[in-house]
Amino acid sequence: MTLRRRKITVVGAGNVGASAALYLAERELGDVALVDVVEGIPEGKGLDLLQYGPVGRFDSRVTGSQDSRLMEGSDVVVVTAGVARKPGMTRLDLLQTNARIIQSVAKNIQAHAPDAIVIVITNPLDVMTYLLWKLTGFPAHRVVGQAGVLDGARFSAFIAQELDVSVEDISTLVLGGHGDDMVPLVRYTTVSGIPLADLLPADRITALVDRARNGGAEIVKLLKTGSAYYAPAASGVQMVEAVVKDKKRILACSAHLSGQYGLSDVYIGVPVVLGGGGVEKIIELKLTDAERAALHNSAKIYKEAIADALKVVA
Ligand code: 2OP
Repeated sequence: MTLRRRKITVVGAGNVGASAALYLAERELGDVALVDVVEGIPEGKGLDLLQYGPVGRFDSRVTGSQDSRLMEGSDVVVVTAGVARKPGMTRLDLLQTNARIIQSVAKNIQAHAPDAIVIVITNPLDVMTYLLWKLTGFPAHRVVGQAGVLDGARFSAFIAQELDVSVEDISTLVLGGHGDDMVPLVRYTTVSGIPLADLLPADRITALVDRARNGGAEIVKLLKTGSAYYAPAASGVQMVEAVVKDKKRILACSAHLSGQYGLSDVYIGVPVVLGGGGVEKIIELKLTDAERAALHNSAKIYKEAIADALKVVA
């Protein structure tokens, strides 16, 4: 038997895609193929990353191309293609433009990486993940969206800063859509097992929740020309790692619901077991009435947006 390396394609060589390629290569999660429609960018960034290998001490081979045939043989495809927000925009404002881009990406994945597990990062996240699932016709467990890992990381970073403790000890859970309507579950947020509510007064927790919820917009406002990329890319890479190492991590991801939480035909952030089979299980928590209402409210927004997106690609 000969073992082979994993192959991971990153679609979109912008800031999120290039950062994802960098982290994937540094962690030697597989060989990395960078695909983008802009001439020269995937080739150039791919070559730059390949040349970083001897200094970064990794053997992942990084290649880049405009030709989507480069994704052939991929075990995992990470989709970052699309435009980013500008100040004052919500993620849903990107729907029209990015739906068309996802339509063509889905076609390419279907043709060249029909067995891959697909991790979507493009916004509006839950809508684009649904669209990619629908247009590829892949089983739902092989298409998953990155949002809860990032939103949870933001919440964790702010908690660690507030308490002046290590980020490593913070465990958060953010459900719902990747938007202003996200649902950080304070009840499930702990610091080395200690409930957050035992460590901080309610008003401080509310302030941290609000900052996490606006974590992306805060960066868009500062950058002015685009949105965050280091943390979004690293969050996607954490999901790739869970898949290629079959870690069976429990992570909040945008997953296809078919009755769980009383919701169906929608992608929304819920805790899942992520492993070699993709979304191996959706974990159904017993939510309070308020949490359930917040999740349903979030799902309603994305269901409407999904209907809009389907019209764009019809
Ligand atoms: C963010 O929240 C880009 O959606 C990403 O920053």
